[in-house]
Amino acid sequence: MTAAAAQQGTTHQGILDWVTEVAELTQPDDIHWCTGSDEEWVQLTDFLVGTGTFIRLDESKKPNSFYAASDPIDVARVEDRTYICSRDERDAGPTNNWMDPDAMKELMRGLYAGCMKGRTMYVVPFVMGHLEAEHPMFGVEITDSAYVVASMRVMARMGSHVLRKMEELEAAGTEFSWVPALHSVGHPLAEGEDDVAWPCNETKYIVQFPEERMIWSFGSGYGGNALLGKKCYALRIASVMARDEGWLAEHMLILKLTSPEGVVKYVAAAFPSACGKTNLAMLQPTIPGWKVETLGDDIAWMRVGEDGRLWAVNPEYGFFGVAPGTNEHTNPNAMRTIAKGNSVFTNVALTEDGDVWWEGLENPPARATSWKGEPWTPDSTELSSHPNSRYCTPIKQCDILAAEYDDPRGVPIDAILFGGRRRDTIPLVFEARDWTHGTFLGATLSSETTAAAVGQVGVVRRDPMAMLPFIGYNAGDYFNHWITVGKENDAAKLPKIFYVNWFRRDDDGNFVWPGFGENSRVLKWVVERIDGQAAAVETPIGHVPTPESLDTDGLDMSAADLAKCLEVDAEEWKAELPQIQEWFDKFGDDLPGVLWTELDGLRARLEG
Ligand code: GDP
Ligand code: PGA
Ligand code: MN
Ligand code: MN
Repeated sequence: MTAAAAQQGTTHQGILDWVTEVAELTQPDDIHWCTGSDEEWVQLTDFLVGTGTFIRLDESKKPNSFYAASDPIDVARVEDRTYICSRDERDAGPTNNWMDPDAMKELMRGLYAGCMKGRTMYVVPFVMGHLEAEHPMFGVEITDSAYVVASMRVMARMGSHVLRKMEELEAAGTEFSWVPALHSVGHPLAEGEDDVAWPCNETKYIVQFPEERMIWSFGSGYGGNALLGKKCYALRIASVMARDEGWLAEHMLILKLTSPEGVVKYVAAAFPSACGKTNLAMLQPTIPGWKVETLGDDIAWMRVGEDGRLWAVNPEYGFFGVAPGTNEHTNPNAMRTIAKGNSVFTNVALTEDGDVWWEGLENPPARATSWKGEPWTPDSTELSSHPNSRYCTPIKQCDILAAEYDDPRGVPIDAILFGGRRRDTIPLVFEARDWTHGTFLGATLSSETTAAAVGQVGVVRRDPMAMLPFIGYNAGDYFNHWITVGKENDAAKLPKIFYVNWFRRDDDGNFVWPGFGENSRVLKWVVERIDGQAAAVETPIGHVPTPESLDTDGLDMSAADLAKCLEVDAEEWKAELPQIQEWFDKFGDDLPGVLWTELDGLRARLEG
């Protein structure tokens, strides 16, 4: 049955062979080649309503939108179950889990054997980035989860048109590559067995085979583990391609900033998961006359163009945003985007009138059902929504999407911001002295852990370039790749690098900086620095704004609090030195020497 069913899908022999092989191993009841059509969306969402995975939201509140609650054991990325299976262990580096690729395949073939019994196997042709790109970045995801297919339709360009393009290229003899990405929730159904609302498996593996450009994922239905175009392909596998081909695949938002005078700048920013990328990408400035438009909120692929500038595209097609904290004040543009519907909400609360709610949203309902399926009221001591609950919504619905989003060439980046969540030490913003110093800031980026990954929350860890869970190879080589981009290109044309921290706290534990729309003041300082207009003080860590150089017109903040935001406390920074030393020691000889030189320079300036 399976070979014959596969046959109907495509004329592309390589894809057909792979689909047939996977079907023979996993034994699905059916094979469905996804078209990406509206009819298919209706079929999928009706099916998911039928199995209890989806609850349809009220049409007048969130049209064509759905609520889902996961199994409580499947709520976030699982970093300890994520592997880079390079042939040589050295190439996975000290920051990734590694297993020999053959051993991993044997182990996982055991898990995949018969794992789709009683289910439909969906084949999802997709492209990350533009189909019209010079080298389109194709992938095919096989999954046994209709939830994953529906989410993939929002998050990536997918469907028949992508498959047809691959078939055309093959027929024309044009060389191209595609990433096979295999996913199963790992929950086969016996004859007559009813499905559960959120099938998954206690055993989870999220595996990248970098040399083969291949992904195998098992046991989880959560976005970052299961929508394989996103983290697994567009970051882990793409970072390896980028190393080999001389470009950068980064965990960055992309935004367009227009000044009151009409001057346009493009900014990319890398913050760890749940540290403010989506919010900054859609920011509504509080300073008059400034405009932000969005290009992307999570991933940037960047290449140096013929003009020597660094050009960035967002390979995704939707937003997969953290729900809690999102509201009309913090992120009105996200609120408008999801209000248009066509969205999936996972692990938030369901209200009695068929809408969704989460912590931080306006107008708490008198009664709701929590993400755990329990009755919830504003007096409940438990959260209504998981801290990593998400909305999944089409990027095209965003009112402030920049027109350049549709340009396969992307946009030339003027500034890169690195940032993290730190209650102390890191000032609101400072500027790197040059590209190498900026690479040092990125390589030593630190942040308190969040609910976006399973594990302890609030612990400071190094998260280089916000890519710790996503670098698909040896992080020492990755730092070297960054240094090389700076060396081989004209530094004057590359973006200037900054470091930001919206999350400094006062003695009572409150955030000192109001954040969100007020972050436009920092963006303004950044572009004025680039144009040589804003003042800064040179400190041991880099260039920090003078209090006067930051636009504080209309900002409700005391001079003392502003000083607190901008403070560089030498003692706090000295305490950072042994932590950076320990971090760098992990890499042994693989750490580029210039990063040691940067650390020595920082130490000397702090102690001098
Ligand atoms: P992402 O995962 O990096 O895209 O982060 P999000 O933009 O989704 O934000 C994650 C969490 O941080 C949400 O709860 C936001 O409300 C919160 N957040 C985002 N920006 C700021 C900010 O400027 N200040 C503060 N205090 N919180 C923020
Ligand atoms: P985030 O994306 O960066 O918006 O949190 C999801 C993730 O990184 O897991
Ligand atoms: Mn992310
Ligand atoms: Mn985000």
